[in-house]
Amino acid sequence: MEQTEHAELSVMPRIGEKAPDFNADTTIGHLKFSEYNKDHWVILFSHPADFTPVCTTELSAFANEQEFFKGRNTKLIGLSVDSNHSHLAWVHNVKEKTGIYMDFPIIADLSMNVAKKYGMIHPGEDSTSAVRAVFFIDPKRVIRLIMYYPLNVGRNMAEIKRSLIALQTTDEHDVALPVNWEPGDKAIVPPPKTLEEMDERDQTKFEKVDFYLVKRDLDGKKA
Ligand code: BEZ
Repeated sequence: MEQTEHAELSVMPRIGEKAPDFNADTTIGHLKFSEYNKDHWVILFSHPADFTPVCTTELSAFANEQEFFKGRNTKLIGLSVDSNHSHLAWVHNVKEKTGIYMDFPIIADLSMNVAKKYGMIHPGEDSTSAVRAVFFIDPKRVIRLIMYYPLNVGRNMAEIKRSLIALQTTDEHDVALPVNWEPGDKAIVPPPKTLEEMDERDQTKFEKVDFYLVKRDLDGKKA
């Protein structure tokens, strides 16, 4: 693939940074992101275009999982550079054909204002539409995890759900999570910071590989 240089479009917000605020027209009306985000996690995701097959499967999957996300205090918001009229027609069409109602807000980002702020335009892939991005934003409006997928590969809903559970679990229990972690698996206790803490590990009741790799159950709590 030929590489392109577009400095203006390649500003990428990073993990740990404050999510850029914005005002936007959406399928539920005009909204200010910082107000939508207030007291909630938000998953902000972009798709290349309405009325396209992969995007239809993806946004239908988000719609089908709305109860799961609500149960985890998480709001959804989609985005593409299509018009609000196009979004409404697409949502109506999908509902008519499949019964699935994509009634979370979808941003009509015709100006690419939001897409540029979030580094969703990757000109080497396509300069006129957003790639498939997913931003996990916590209630303090901090970006916690980012996924980018190309135009021709759909995202994995199981991994999106697992990532959200994992982020919320690390916050709740002050742990890290190992490779392929799934809810119910053991978590990693943060490594010791002092010699005293390191020595304490000799007596640990948790599963210990060495002083820097100790795993523990999460006490049957929801995780
Ligand atoms: C799709 O959603 O099917 C799609 C959209 C843009 C480019 C390629 C595929």
